[in-house]
This record gives sequence, C-alpha cells and structure tokens, in this order.
Amino acid sequence: MTLRLGDTVPDFTAETTDGPLSFHEWLGNSWGVLFSHPKDFTPVCTTELGEVARLKGEFDKRNVKVVGLSVDPLKDHRAWVGDIKETQGHALNFPLIADPDRKVSDLYGMIHPNASDTFTVRSVFVIGPDKKLKLSITYPASTGRNFEEILRVIDSLQLTAKHSVATPVNWKSGDDVIIVPALSDAAAKEKFPGGWKTLKPYLRIVPQPGLSK
Ligand code: BEZ
Repeated sequence: MTLRLGDTVPDFTAETTDGPLSFHEWLGNSWGVLFSHPKDFTPVCTTELGEVARLKGEFDKRNVKVVGLSVDPLKDHRAWVGDIKETQGHALNFPLIADPDRKVSDLYGMIHPNASDTFTVRSVFVIGPDKKLKLSITYPASTGRNFEEILRVIDSLQLTAKHSVATPVNWKSGDDVIIVPALSDAAAKEKFPGGWKTLKPYLRIVPQPGLSK
C-alpha cells in the first residue's frame, strides 16, 4: 500500500513491549510518530532507539506519542532492550511493535522488496491528531536517522496547524516564519497585528508566533 500525505493512516492492533496496542485508540488526540527499524540486535538500530528514548521528553512536550516497529518477535525485542540501555545509556521508554507476520509493515508499505524482502526499511511516519499522514520519510538501512530533524518538522507542522504560517529553508524554532499564501493581507492583519515584512507579495515574513518573550 502506498500511503500519501493527507491519507488517514491505517488502524491496526499489535503486540508491543508495553503490551497489546490498538493504534488509533492509543494515539487518541495526540500526534504520533511510527518508525520502523530493519532488525533487532543490529548496531544502527540500537543507537536510534537509545536516541529516541533520550528525546522522549521532547516528544512529550509536543504532545507526540512515539512507537517503533521491527519484524522481529516480542521475545527478541525483550532480549534486546537491555543492550540499548547498556550501550546508549537510555532505557527504552516507548513501545516497540513486534511484527513477525509483517501485518503492519505491509499495511504501511515499510518493506521495499528491492532493498530487502525480509526486513523493513527505516520509515518514519508523522501522524496528526486527525489521524492523517503529515510526513513520511524513508531512509536506507545503513543510515541512522536524525530525530532532531523529525522534531524540527513536528514544530513546523504544529505552527502551521495553529498559526497559518509556513517555515522557510533551514528554519529552526525561534527563527522568523512565513505567512501562508492562502491568508489574505486583511486576514493576516488580524492574526499578526504587530505587522510583517513584505519581501514580495507572496513572501511575507513574520516573527514566530507563540514564542514566550
Ligand atoms: C543496523 O541497524 O545496524 C543495520 C541494519 C540493517 C542493515 C545495516 C545496518
């Protein structure tokens, strides 16, 4: 199945290291990140899961629930978590889905047979509180992801959802943002009474809304 931005993400039930999970119900009104890693007891995956555990507080602050997945069985996940704590200094603090029958992997198109017909690639899905897909990225098995980048995109998505702004190239939280083209100048005046800088009629720059002074 090819999932595209704006699609409602498929619901599923699965076994995880935190017990059974019913995906849509578990997400509730939160944002979600579902990410796959190719295999348990592999080096890159071990570093990634330790890093996501380290960043858990950052995901919580943004009202984002995180869940990992690999096609290995629960008993392997359970045996592996000790290695993550030992080598990365952070114990797993979010659920890991066991998907040995590839039910979830197939639903989300996480197996790319020309890369490997046995293991998932490194997929990342960011899901909004409306259960719609907001972002998907696919990395090769050999490249560990940058989860600070995932947080950066979530910050951008949440700003757009709340304030009708978009974020420019290389933006990071605190930098100026762009008023979305769909907002007329008249409507923008109401939202941004402090004004903005017009570089072109379609390129209107405004300080990031919602920053505490
Ligand atoms: C890893 O997680 O280290 C890995 C997994 C599959 C292929 C290459 C590296």
